[in-house]
Amino acid sequence: MGTVIKTLEKMIYNQKYNTLKELFIDYRATQRCLPAFNVNDNYDLKAVVEAADEMSTNVMVMTYPPVAELNTTEVFRSLVDGFKKVSQNNIFLHLDHSTTVDLCKRAIDSGYDSVMIDGSQVSLEENIKMTKQVVDYAASAGVVVEAEIGKIMGRGVEVKSDNDFLADVGEVKKLYEATGVDIVAVGIGTAHGFTPTEPKIHFDRLEEIALAIPAPLVLHGGTGIPDADIQKSILMGMSKINIGTIVHSTYMKYALEEIQKAGDGAYPPYIMKEVLPKIKHVVKDRLRAVNFK
Ligand code: 13P
Repeated sequence: MGTVIKTLEKMIYNQKYNTLKELFIDYRATQRCLPAFNVNDNYDLKAVVEAADEMSTNVMVMTYPPVAELNTTEVFRSLVDGFKKVSQNNIFLHLDHSTTVDLCKRAIDSGYDSVMIDGSQVSLEENIKMTKQVVDYAASAGVVVEAEIGKIMGRGVEVKSDNDFLADVGEVKKLYEATGVDIVAVGIGTAHGFTPTEPKIHFDRLEEIALAIPAPLVLHGGTGIPDADIQKSILMGMSKINIGTIVHSTYMKYALEEIQKAGDGAYPPYIMKEVLPKIKHVVKDRLRAVNFK
């Protein structure tokens, strides 16, 4: 009996949603979270897709602007479409941290499921203006739009005090109400990349934000956040978590190791055959932490 219920729960968890918007609304209501991984090419994309398949979970893959620019949004869309043909679960494609409206428009035109317009480094007024432009452009295509408010530390984003990075509740409300954006990344103390000390998450601020707006929230800086904090955040309204550094650093570390071992005979598919399971291993580890319910 227990097994039947578990299987049923799994089927409900992995149900195919008609739209990504529908999925996010349901995830926020049921305190679940879509795991989203930054990928760079067909190899780490393959690792994420296979890991998600083995764990029977919906997943999102995200391209940072340099990845989208180098591969083009059209080619990345086609790559993901190819993998979708062999995957059992939903794979959604997202443009991550675009600071320009233009790149968001290109991704929308190429058929991305979701785009992020990152106006966290400009004034609230400018952020609202940029976000609204992307929301309006995305509307007819039904593409999800993510905005950011507050700062995610790391990678050149330096902060001097808590007030500097924590999202202001009044500003979050203003941005949400003025733009009608679908999902909102909020600064609550996490940092991009490996951090020398454990990031201190400000759960009190998260609680205030979650009470202030009904939108699904996004937790950035997924590498290095302890599992218990990830899970607590999910229960408090984080419906998408971004995980990047652990994927590309694993990829680069083992690729370098294998290339050095192979020397002049280094041949990409043989190298990647060794590297892929390593990436899959870390992705599965993070999927376990996120899909804890
Ligand atoms: P990490 O690199 O810390 O995992 O963060 C990724 C991220 O937030 C991308 O938007």
